[in-house]
Amino acid sequence: MPRKIIIDTDPGQDDAVAILLALASPEEIDLLGIAAVAGNVPLGLTATNARKVCEVAGRADVQVFAGCDRPLAHSLVTAEHVHGKTGLDGPDLPDPQMPLQPRHGVDFIIDTLREEAPGKVTLCPLGPLTNIATALQKAPDIAPRVQEIVLMGGAYFEVGNITPAAEFNIYVDPEAAETVFKSGIPLTVMPLDVTHKALVTPPRNEAFRALGTHPGRVVAEWTDFFERFDKEKYGSQGAPLHDPTVIAYLIRPDLFAGRHINVEIETQSPLTRGMTVADWWRVTDRAPNAMFMGDLDAERFFSLLTERIGRL
Ligand code: RIB
Ligand code: CA
Repeated sequence: MPRKIIIDTDPGQDDAVAILLALASPEEIDLLGIAAVAGNVPLGLTATNARKVCEVAGRADVQVFAGCDRPLAHSLVTAEHVHGKTGLDGPDLPDPQMPLQPRHGVDFIIDTLREEAPGKVTLCPLGPLTNIATALQKAPDIAPRVQEIVLMGGAYFEVGNITPAAEFNIYVDPEAAETVFKSGIPLTVMPLDVTHKALVTPPRNEAFRALGTHPGRVVAEWTDFFERFDKEKYGSQGAPLHDPTVIAYLIRPDLFAGRHINVEIETQSPLTRGMTVADWWRVTDRAPNAMFMGDLDAERFFSLLTERIGRL
């Protein structure tokens, strides 16, 4: 029985690959819809990019909604330096023909959770948690109806990528992250600790291109563009492919390893705003609230990803 999910996203080349992986895996995933959020680039662009990605997969039928255009308490911080001015730089993609749904993304999340059976919908946030937190604050009744939240965000051993202490998705909206991490909803977290082990090395990039399909070429060109920043910054063999780890977890959870621990969010300190304070060594008596991933089988992750993109 495929798992019903909502993807909440700020595309972003890595978000885009995650969306394609979900669309390529109908046996495991029933994508109910996509809610765009402001993050890597402003909302207008993330809502456009989400539709461009669906059309790369030939899926103009997917419902795409625009959610929140700014964080709960801070002004928006974007990442054009990583993703380019469109947020989806690399290949030249046509403007989307498919419509943006009229409903607000937050209302789509609330309505869907109320309409679907309790405990049968998984939320997959790939960007700042603004939409998710807003939905929980606007409709507290939906919290027990969520099966699980599987998100990309945070960092512990890998430390921050937008500040020395914080990972981008959490940094942009730490108040929203605090709401999500305190919600009591089952939480699985893909931090930089694990996504920095999912590096798009040249052979892995070549494998996308070698698919010889339009989606394969587009993915290769996204990762080519996306990696120039991270390779220079980390001197690594390729860019970390962050967001597809969320979808891969739903398909093959055995590719991942982590610990169920307490994770809390710094919201007060300007120096460490957005830090995910993970009690990895269980040195406190704070209640565990998140499955915090630390490792993945990168070879099998990329084999799965390439095989599935090849199906589109
Ligand atoms: O820090 C990495 C995260 O921030 C990824 O989700 C990337 O798409 C950006 O949103
Ligand atoms: Ca993202």
